Amino acid sequence: MTPGGDTPSRPAALVTGASAGLGAAYAEALARRGFDLLLVARRAERLDAVADRCRTHGVQAATLVADLATVSGRAACRAATDTVDLRMAVLNAGFGSTGPMHRQDREREVRMVDLNCAAVVDLAAHVLPRFAARGSGDLVILSSAAAFLPLPAMATYAATRAFTLHLARALAVEHTGGGVRVLAVCPGPTRTEFSEVITRERARGGGEDTRRGWPLGLDDPDAVVERSLAALERGRVVVTTGWVARTTRIAASFVPYGLVATAIGLWNRRRGAGSRSPI
Ligand SMILES: NC(=O)c1ccc[n+]([C@@H]2O[C@H](COP(=O)([O-])OP(=O)(O)OC[C@H]3O[C@@H](n4cnc5c(N)ncnc54)[C@H](OP(=O)(O)O)[C@@H]3O)[C@@H](O)[C@H]2O)c1
Repeated sequence: MTPGGDTPSRPAALVTGASAGLGAAYAEALARRGFDLLLVARRAERLDAVADRCRTHGVQAATLVADLATVSGRAACRAATDTVDLRMAVLNAGFGSTGPMHRQDREREVRMVDLNCAAVVDLAAHVLPRFAARGSGDLVILSSAAAFLPLPAMATYAATRAFTLHLARALAVEHTGGGVRVLAVCPGPTRTEFSEVITRERARGGGEDTRRGWPLGLDDPDAVVERSLAALERGRVVVTTGWVARTTRIAASFVPYGLVATAIGLWNRRRGAGSRSPI
């Protein structure tokens, strides 16, 4: 778990889950904006490839191979942030599962909570004192369209994303007027490796996934990242990207959950029990 690559010497950004998907897109977007980078994930080769792409923008990029679902991985990540002039943390690493909980792998569900929730608290609690003392710093926390409602067939995942949404909203209030900005990012279905990871885990015996894929088009990860960074600049606390997230957020505010649950149940029956819910 030794950091590899350059040692960032200018204002730096931490991006967790930077080896793929939205994390890789955040890394490149921040490199374009002149941030040195501390990139964290488990797959060294994939991280190195992202770091190389970031360096083409003239910034330095260090990599840390760490499993953030573990206590030791989080300790290594905290220590790495202490070696750089950290101005932004993008807490993005996460994964999901689909299908009813009674058919899931119990340990994997708990690991999801460790990564999607505990790691976010651990790293946020580590960087915020420094941001608050300096009176500046940006904390970007990934949530999801799935955060707005309890979601049958994605129960644990949706609950973890509700956790980070609430966490970010509360932290934003704690830092109002203090120069520290906190943003919850709630994407709809986005073209990343998220679904492949679920399918791969199922093949390894990590729980049932009977979904047939999201049929209505996926959002572009670069567009999601640009939209979220623009929202951060405007001082927004929550940003939804894509029509699925926007519709879900509105529906969650106005439509009784009983109606929504019925609609989700009908969707699941039509597409096969356990298939991906409409949100
Ligand atoms: N894609 C969507 O439709 C969507 C929608 C809403 C919200 N989100 C959220 O967006 C975030 C990023 O997901 P994504 O769609 O970009 O998925 P992805 O393409 O599968 O990327 C997930 C990233 O997290 C890293 N990661 C996974 N487990 C880890 C662990 N134990 N320790 C450290 N890093 C780990 C992965 O790297 P390694 O495998 O190399 O460790 C990878 O870099 C997640 O928090 C997810 O909840 C995604």
